[in-house]
Amino acid sequence: MDALRITGGQRLHGTVAAGGSKNATLPIMAAAMLCDGPVVLSGTPQLTDVCTLAELLRHLGVESHRDADGDVYLDTIDPTPTTAPAALVRRMRASFCVLSPLLARRGRAVVPLPGGCNIGHRPVDLHLAGLAALGAELRIDRGFVIAEARQLFGAKLNLRGPNGSTVTGTANVLSAAVLARGTTIITGAATEPEIVDLGRFLIAAGANIEGLGTDTLEIHGVERLSGAEHEVIPDRIEAATLLLAAAITRGTVSVTHVRPEHLSAVLEALSAAGALVAVGNHKITVHAENRPQPIDLIARPYPGVPTDLQAQFMALLALAEGNSVVADDVFPERSLHLAELARLGARIQRRDRLAMVEGVHRLSGAEVTATDLRATAALVLAGLAARGETIIHEVEHLERGYEDLPLKLNQLGANITRLTAKPAVAPPAGSRPSRQAREPATPITT
Ligand code: EPZ
Repeated sequence: MDALRITGGQRLHGTVAAGGSKNATLPIMAAAMLCDGPVVLSGTPQLTDVCTLAELLRHLGVESHRDADGDVYLDTIDPTPTTAPAALVRRMRASFCVLSPLLARRGRAVVPLPGGCNIGHRPVDLHLAGLAALGAELRIDRGFVIAEARQLFGAKLNLRGPNGSTVTGTANVLSAAVLARGTTIITGAATEPEIVDLGRFLIAAGANIEGLGTDTLEIHGVERLSGAEHEVIPDRIEAATLLLAAAITRGTVSVTHVRPEHLSAVLEALSAAGALVAVGNHKITVHAENRPQPIDLIARPYPGVPTDLQAQFMALLALAEGNSVVADDVFPERSLHLAELARLGARIQRRDRLAMVEGVHRLSGAEVTATDLRATAALVLAGLAARGETIIHEVEHLERGYEDLPLKLNQLGANITRLTAKPAVAPPAGSRPSRQAREPATPITT
């Protein structure tokens, strides 16, 4: 596992572009299995999660490649496999999105239950109830979901759970309903921009969907979907993380290739925390001079502040001029970052479902360990603002969902170096040392 070394204290300045949305790309790639022709996706980010899904799709008969312009091509060359390998699904929860495309297009899907994860309890009961409502026969056998249906049929169903509507559950059920016979009404559908983007892709391939962006979707099933071309939306979580980097370092950063309307609640929270926010056409600028102001923040389903930014906001509020309260209504147990932020000097106490954040004057560099994607982003932000050197171990978490974040931050004036782990086992005598062994520290150049 590699590490990042961050020398904190630099105010960030400049302009940087956000990449394409991870959480839009993944379900759209899975939905390519529904299509009778090739799919071309532009604007997709280069991330390990995208590579993992491409590998899983290859096992399922879908060839994919990225061309020189970065466009991703997907084409089903063998429509017979129906079993998703457990090792790949375990690597990434979003792999569960292959369930419905397999079922709807191939009549059968055998997909491992994704299991627990570092951000809390993550059941898939709503996915399964939604597919059962469409007529799928479902059973669980030795950790695998086995779903079968010769034909799916339109139905009325609800996807709202105790903590809000399920995002990938909506992606799964929507992907099945587009090929179901008759009309499906989904109430309690997720309204996240990534679901709207999946819907737009499916419509481009010939699906008939009404109500995208609202919590009620009406889907009139069609017999087949064609190939399609689609441009993926910009990543709102990456954009917001870069804007939070401006706020926490008291700098000025403009993020381009962004959809400000996807970030309304986030920009409101940033303003409330004392940052100056200017919104332009596909561009947002954040400027901060002083310590942040304390705020109470509750992560909620869209259009609220996303749970995927809760940890990064907590890093900002750790430096606020006063006390803040943070809660996460979507994943109430998403709190592994608290202990790591504490190593940098943050004062955060958990009280039931609330995190009480007592703002401190300064954070100090320390060695910390990444636990999950967004927690790692929070540690990077804290490290940028901390005095001295911060080492973040197991930084591979970051590459699952941020395209070149250290590089982009360095372009804005940060000082981040990647430290490559030496191989655990010595190479056999006489063999050429690996590239990693020869280059223990790889600087990230701008
Ligand atoms: C998606 O996960 C995202 N992943 C997550 O981003 C994000 O944190 C989450 O939505 C919430 O916005 C992708 O899009 C690939 P949910 P998902 O089903 O769909 C409960 C990141 O860092 N629930 O919307 O798996 C669940 O426990 C990742 O990029 C049920 O009760 O999340 C949670 O409390 C991490 N039953 C709430 O719903 C179910 O069947 C929302 O979860 C499913 C979910």
